[in-house]
Amino acid sequence: MALLEGQGLSKRFGGVAALDGVNFAVEQGTIVGLIGPNGAGKTTLFNVVAGMFRPDSGRVLFRGEDVTNLPANTICRMGIARTFQVTRPFLKMTCLENVAVAMINSPRSEHGRDWRRAARTYLDYVELGHLASTEARYLNVVQKKRLEIARALATKPELVMLDEVLGGLNTQEIGRAVEFVKRLRDERKLTICWIEHVMGAIMGAAEKVIVLDQGKHLMEGPPDAVVKDQRVIQAYLGD
Ligand SMILES: Nc1ncnc2c1ncn2[C@@H]1O[C@H](COP(=O)(O)OP(=O)(O)OP(=O)(O)O)[C@@H](O)[C@H]1O
Ligand SMILES: [Mg+2]
Repeated sequence: MALLEGQGLSKRFGGVAALDGVNFAVEQGTIVGLIGPNGAGKTTLFNVVAGMFRPDSGRVLFRGEDVTNLPANTICRMGIARTFQVTRPFLKMTCLENVAVAMINSPRSEHGRDWRRAARTYLDYVELGHLASTEARYLNVVQKKRLEIARALATKPELVMLDEVLGGLNTQEIGRAVEFVKRLRDERKLTICWIEHVMGAIMGAAEKVIVLDQGKHLMEGPPDAVVKDQRVIQAYLGD
């Protein structure tokens, strides 16, 4: 049984079918890449799984349990965390406070006398410890993406959905970030669903890649098969 499964998920916004009968599965302990052109429905898929949007039809199963239409905070407590493509920290709170707020959604809450120390460990893990008392509004794009990851980890998830966390990084930094995501899987025993346009990153990390195009599941497979697929080349990669 897959850890996360989507069955026939559809979501329309006015005349646009952002998701059109999408089926997918994410196996426990794997990194699954989610790719596709702009507007393909990738972020919408995360929003539906995370309980931010109700699908028009279809269902989401987590550990075999139907979680469709549960409130976002319930889904988070069950073990699904996500980062936002457009980062959303509380701008006037410090990095440490931002993580502490996320910890409230942890099933095993570390709130209490030691919350500062607990929050600090998540900041250290993403190498933001030195900015613990800095307000989030002063962070650059790369630091804000890291804070997103720290906040996601602070909810003690089983599955993390990463939405374009490599923005602003150069080639060398992307290589380090790929190693970081692999460590999340290996050291923290996380299952990861990762949206990214940087194909090299997905190629180097994912066991399976799912391709969306215009709200439809176009194809899926191991990364080397996906990049050679004519449909994917035509819809997304180009020549
Ligand atoms: N809240 C919303 N209201 C209206 N339309 C939306 C909303 N969210 C997404 N859409 C539309 O749904 C479609 C899919 O958008 P989505 O953000 O899921 O694409 P994406 O694959 O994440 O693209 P990108 O790679 O640019 O981030 C687009 O046509 C988008 O304009
Ligand atoms: Mg998106």
